[in-house]
Amino acid sequence: MQALYFTEFGTSDVLQYGEVPLPQVQANEVLVKNEYIGLNFADIYRRRGTYQIEEHYPYIDGYEGAGSIVQVGSAVDPQLLGQNILYVDVPLANAEYVAVPETKVITLPAYISTKLAATIGLQGLTADFLAHDLGSDQAPAQVFITGISGGVGQLLAQILLADGLQVFGSASTAAKRSVALKMGVREVFPSREFSWLPQQSGKFQTVYDGVGVNLDKSLQLLQHRGRVVFFGMAGGNPPQIDLVQMLAESKSILTGDLWDYLTSFAERKRRSERLFSYLRQGKIQLTEPKIFALSAGKTAHQYLESGKNIGKVLLQP
Ligand SMILES: NC(=O)c1ccc[n+]([C@@H]2O[C@H](COP(=O)([O-])OP(=O)(O)OC[C@H]3O[C@@H](n4cnc5c(N)ncnc54)[C@H](OP(=O)(O)O)[C@@H]3O)[C@@H](O)[C@H]2O)c1
Repeated sequence: MQALYFTEFGTSDVLQYGEVPLPQVQANEVLVKNEYIGLNFADIYRRRGTYQIEEHYPYIDGYEGAGSIVQVGSAVDPQLLGQNILYVDVPLANAEYVAVPETKVITLPAYISTKLAATIGLQGLTADFLAHDLGSDQAPAQVFITGISGGVGQLLAQILLADGLQVFGSASTAAKRSVALKMGVREVFPSREFSWLPQQSGKFQTVYDGVGVNLDKSLQLLQHRGRVVFFGMAGGNPPQIDLVQMLAESKSILTGDLWDYLTSFAERKRRSERLFSYLRQGKIQLTEPKIFALSAGKTAHQYLESGKNIGKVLLQP
C-alpha cells in the first residue's frame, strides 16, 4: 500500500510518499480502508520529534481517519465488515489502510459521512471533553477561546454557545474573526497584538488556550477564581508562569489530553454520541475542510504550519 512516511525527524522535507507493507490484522482488529485522514497539529510535533510517536520503521504519522472496514480479525464481530467508521486514537493512519483495534472503532450513524466524520472527529471529541470535563461552566458564564477559528476553536465555540455560554475569542485575521462572529461569538480580538488586553482583563470565568505561547495573557483575562484550560501549543511553548501570583488571585490552570478521556469502548461511544448529537440538532456548522492528496502530504504539513487554515485539514489516499 502507499503511505506518507519519514525515517528521521525534522521539517516537512523529511516526508516521503511510497510503498510500505500492508498491516497484518490481529484477532481483535479490523482493517480499515481510509477515505479521509485527519491532519492535526500533533502530527507536526511528531514529525519534528517533539511528541510521542509509535516506534515503527519507517515512522508513519497520523492517528485519525474515517473509512470502511474491509477485513475483520478472527475474534471480531463479523457484522462490522463493510461498515463506515471513525477512529481518532490509532497510530500509522497516514496510509491507504490501517489496522484498528475493535475497541477503538466508532461506527458512524447514516447521517454522518466519512468526510464529515474525519472533519469533526478528533477536534470535536477534544472540544467535547474540554467543554464538559474541564471547563464545565454554567450558562450564562463568559468564556474566552484563543485561536477561536482553528479546528478545535470553531467546534468548541459552537458547543459552548449551544450550551448557553457567552463566548469571546481571538483570531489573527479579519477573515478568521468573521468566521467566529458568524457562529454567534460576541467579540473577537486580534491574536497577535494585545492593545485590547487591559480592557478585557479580569472578565472571564474560563479561558481555553490551545496556542500556549501567550498563556500569561490568558491568565490576565481571568476573573479571580477563574481557570485557564491549557490544551496545546499551536503558537509555541508557554512562558514561565508565576504560581504565587496565581495563588494570590485564586486562579488555576487545568490541562488535559484527549487520550486520557477515551479510555474504553464505552467512553468512545458515549462521547462520540454526545458530539454527534450537536450535529444532528444542527448546532454545529463546519467550514469546508481543506483536502490534500495523501501524496501531497508535505504541502499539507506546510499549510497547517503556516497558520493559514480555517478549520480542518484532511488527507485523501
Ligand atoms: N489536548 C488535546 O487532547 C488536544 C487534542 C487536539 C488538539 N489539541 C491542540 O489544540 C490546538 C489547536 O489545534 P487545531 O487542530 O484546532 O489547530 P488549528 O486549526 O491549526 O488552530 C490553531 C490556531 O492557533 C493559532 N496560532 C497558531 N500559531 C499561533 C501563534 N504563533 N500565535 C498565536 N496564535 C497562533 C491560530 O489562530 P490565529 O491565526 O487566529 O491566531 C490557529 O487557528 C493545538 O495546540 C493542538 O495541539 C489538543
